[in-house]
Amino acid sequence: MGFPIYRGRRLRSQAALRAMVAETSLHINDLIYPMFVIHGKDKHLPVTSMPGVYQLSVDRLVNEVKEVKKLGIAAVLLFGIPESKDAEGSSSYQDNGVVQQAIKAIKDCCPELIVVTDVCLCEYTDHGHCGLPDKSGYVDNDATLEILARQALSHVRAGCDIVAPSDMMDGRVGRIRNYLDDNGYIQVPIMAYAAKFASSFYGPFRDAADSTPQFGDRKTYQMDYCNINEALREVAMDIEEGADLVMVKPALAYLDVIKAVKEKFSYPTVAYNVSGEYAMVKAAAEHGWIDEEKVTMEIMTAIKRAGADLIITYAAKDVARYINR
Ligand code: PBG
Repeated sequence: MGFPIYRGRRLRSQAALRAMVAETSLHINDLIYPMFVIHGKDKHLPVTSMPGVYQLSVDRLVNEVKEVKKLGIAAVLLFGIPESKDAEGSSSYQDNGVVQQAIKAIKDCCPELIVVTDVCLCEYTDHGHCGLPDKSGYVDNDATLEILARQALSHVRAGCDIVAPSDMMDGRVGRIRNYLDDNGYIQVPIMAYAAKFASSFYGPFRDAADSTPQFGDRKTYQMDYCNINEALREVAMDIEEGADLVMVKPALAYLDVIKAVKEKFSYPTVAYNVSGEYAMVKAAAEHGWIDEEKVTMEIMTAIKRAGADLIITYAAKDVARYINR
């Protein structure tokens, strides 16, 4: 097959033709919108490093959720920022905790909206680690599992639809699955942050969630970005332990991992287009250096083309508006 029999440009000559042969599509249903909830009333605090993203009190969160729903977005991902933190992250599993309140409020106003909750300790611990450090500062895997399981159960009791453990402790998916099952919640799916890399692209999130580690880093539990075989092992483990959806995070610098995960497991695959990826686009767009809408749509499509079924993105509302237009 060669020129002039094959002319690639024949199918590129008109917009309608191009649309007919487009191999990848992006739908509003593919989007999950992350939100940060804080205590208090009428609070709406901008996150400086993430233009358009706010820390919201439950009342303001509800207004925002109504808008999200109106745009046609099917799911939100909740992160809680508690009033007080301790070494154990005990505010993470209280029935009246900030996320637990937010879940109830969302389910009261928009029962059909899918509420996913991030299950992790870093927002709730005074040291900012995703688990419980021992005396030497090393995060104790097995001790952390108990707290994660309690946190997941408290979210489910409050009414969330999916729990999403993001801590990267070994065995947490199995532990959470058993704990939910033992308490009668056999139907609640787990979205595992399965291949989560230790990434500098999380910088702005740590401002948003107030979760910067106070000592050391997350490299003893999050993955080394050199590794793809290890990522596949992590995904295999999480699926064996009961994960229903598997996530790769971040997205843009890890499109090869998304592709490999989708091809190998054919599981519902989620990509997290993280805070730093969002901030880079916003910053360049504010300078007028790139076209925000076009670049955003190109990025979203690329993530889908790599094999993601769902995309968690701070740009979800913008993307929904672009698609709706
Ligand atoms: C909690 C968590 C993090 C993110 C999602 N869940 C931060 C981290 O692991 O340091 C990052 C999200 C983002 O950057 O948008 N463990």
